[in-house]
Amino acid sequence: MNVDVCFSPKALTEDAVKGKIVVVIDVLRACSTIVTALAHGAREVFPVADRGEAGRVAAQLDPETSLLGGEQGGQRIEGYGAGNSPLEYEPTLVAGKIVVLTTSNGTRAFTSLKGPAETVVGCFLNLSRVVDFLRELDEQTNGVDENPHVLILCVGHDGCAALEDVLCAGMILHRLWSGRAPSGLADGARIALTQYRSVHSRLARSLFNCAHTQRLIALGFGDDVAYCARVDAIPLLPRYDENLLILDVADKERARELVSALPENEEELAEAVEV
Ligand code: MLT
Repeated sequence: MNVDVCFSPKALTEDAVKGKIVVVIDVLRACSTIVTALAHGAREVFPVADRGEAGRVAAQLDPETSLLGGEQGGQRIEGYGAGNSPLEYEPTLVAGKIVVLTTSNGTRAFTSLKGPAETVVGCFLNLSRVVDFLRELDEQTNGVDENPHVLILCVGHDGCAALEDVLCAGMILHRLWSGRAPSGLADGARIALTQYRSVHSRLARSLFNCAHTQRLIALGFGDDVAYCARVDAIPLLPRYDENLLILDVADKERARELVSALPENEEELAEAVEV
């Protein structure tokens, strides 16, 4: 398998994306929010590039069965039903709804991709699920040729790299290759892998020191960071298909099981936390 890692959508050319399997990573917080909303029963998430587009899309939808979500400067946009905190996307708010989502960088990354073969969502919450997806792809084509070509797109922040996304990409590659990287690795993949390996024993601290973590803490969203750092908490793989982020049938079933296992009252919640 041919894998490379890119550190900002702004660094991508059309050729770099065309025909590739793309894993979009925005740990803090768009991809974590998307995975959570779909796990909690949202019908689909419609990522849009900006507020204007969000307004146009939302105007076509029934407000009873849709939710407008997103942030600007990290804060919920005035008049929206939710911000970009994954913790807001509870089943009671999102189940059965289309979520129209606009964020500063993450949702734009999806809408900017031109001609990928397939696009999926990655973050720490569904990390092993992404690894399994890549492994399956590799097995399907094993020995046939050098395909598939995979591009892990770290969304970053305003055109620059974001360490939390790079660490997530590196962890995916570390697990994909069970610690033994193949020869002839592309430089982007090597950078992500090396960065992850250099801090993996103190990952939580490294995530705490990331610039966007510090921004979110300053805005009062420290709990979001702790939530987004939960590796493998939501083993679902959202796919980007015809402008929408959706789960396949098997993952929808898994999502239903996840939601039914959620604590229903404070007593159950206390027990779950103790475990
Ligand atoms: C983004 O898309 O830039 C992020 O998800 C911002 C945020 O943390 O809300």
